[in-house]
Amino acid sequence: MARILTGIQSSGRPHLGNILGAIQPAIELSRDPQNESFFFIADLHSLITIKEGSQREEYIRAIAATWLAFGFDTDRNVFWRQSRVQEHTELAWYLSCFTPFPMLANAHSFKEKSERLSDVNAGLFTYPVLQAADILLYDANIVPVGKDQKQHLEMTRDIASALNRQVGKEVLVLPESRIDEKLMVIPGLDGQKMSKSYHNYIDIFLPEKDLRKVVMKIVSDSTPLEEPKNPDTDITYQLYSLLATEAEVAQMRQNYQNGGYGYGHAKQALYELFMESFEEPRRIYNYYMENPGELERKLEEGEEKARQIARNTISRVRQALGFGS
Ligand code: ADP
Ligand code: TRP
Repeated sequence: MARILTGIQSSGRPHLGNILGAIQPAIELSRDPQNESFFFIADLHSLITIKEGSQREEYIRAIAATWLAFGFDTDRNVFWRQSRVQEHTELAWYLSCFTPFPMLANAHSFKEKSERLSDVNAGLFTYPVLQAADILLYDANIVPVGKDQKQHLEMTRDIASALNRQVGKEVLVLPESRIDEKLMVIPGLDGQKMSKSYHNYIDIFLPEKDLRKVVMKIVSDSTPLEEPKNPDTDITYQLYSLLATEAEVAQMRQNYQNGGYGYGHAKQALYELFMESFEEPRRIYNYYMENPGELERKLEEGEEKARQIARNTISRVRQALGFGS
């Protein structure tokens, strides 16, 4: 049985890119009866950028509701908030003492973010250590992540190996990253990678009218309605192809090439496809957002399970390092 673990930061409401690129594939993996899945909300990591508590709480609810909306089975798996299991921070401290300073200073993600963000705090610097603790605390075997996280996984293995070497035994399990090379980068409204940081994302849980307005903002060229259009360079067509059936995609392709079909028509079709494809997730999402007590109960159940496993690992590590258990 392989233990799959992944986390999502609560630094925004999940968008279409997060859902198609991370949440849905992880839920797919969790359906394999050979796997046991550990999915958590990295709310401690989000403190690096989000200082406002009420805002973070809203994002936590939105992320939790999204996992449930896309069918994550919390009875069979483990689902929790990182901040509710204190062992994450305790293990992070032990690990930080096995992390060479240059490894953190040279991390791509730190370099890139420290140039972009105005608040470059120590949390941003030690981010990979807390991430390593998230993974090692649960003896995870496989960590499905995007390409940008590859280095963090390598650091996790290096830190765990350093600690294991010091204590002379395998106290920590070395995880493998699973990076799906086939998984495409979902384009945003402007054609760049869809991302919170670029403000080009589509929130599929918006009320109908607002969602339609966002879809209408997708960038298109100025080819007049009557002329044929190139589907392969158009963002609306690309997004439509991600969700539509083969026959629907072929039909839209034909419409573009025939002319007499405007980008407005294509965007309307995309909006309708969103409403149809996400009808059930939207219903479940809204249910949980309107019933935060139920969401809380699911998280607390998960936190109970997570804590038990975390406590075992921490006691193993404490013992190995000479802190008793
Ligand atoms: P953002 O870029 O909006 O800040 P995150 O970096 O928090 O998103 O990403 C959370 C997860 O969603 C990661 O696993 C990441 O690989 C995935 N993801 C984010 N944006 C996209 C995208 N445009 N296409 C595919 N996957 C994405
Ligand atoms: N750093 C990850 C991201 O930004 C989120 C994360 C935190 C994570 N801890 C993790 C992912 C542990 C996988 C495993 O996407």
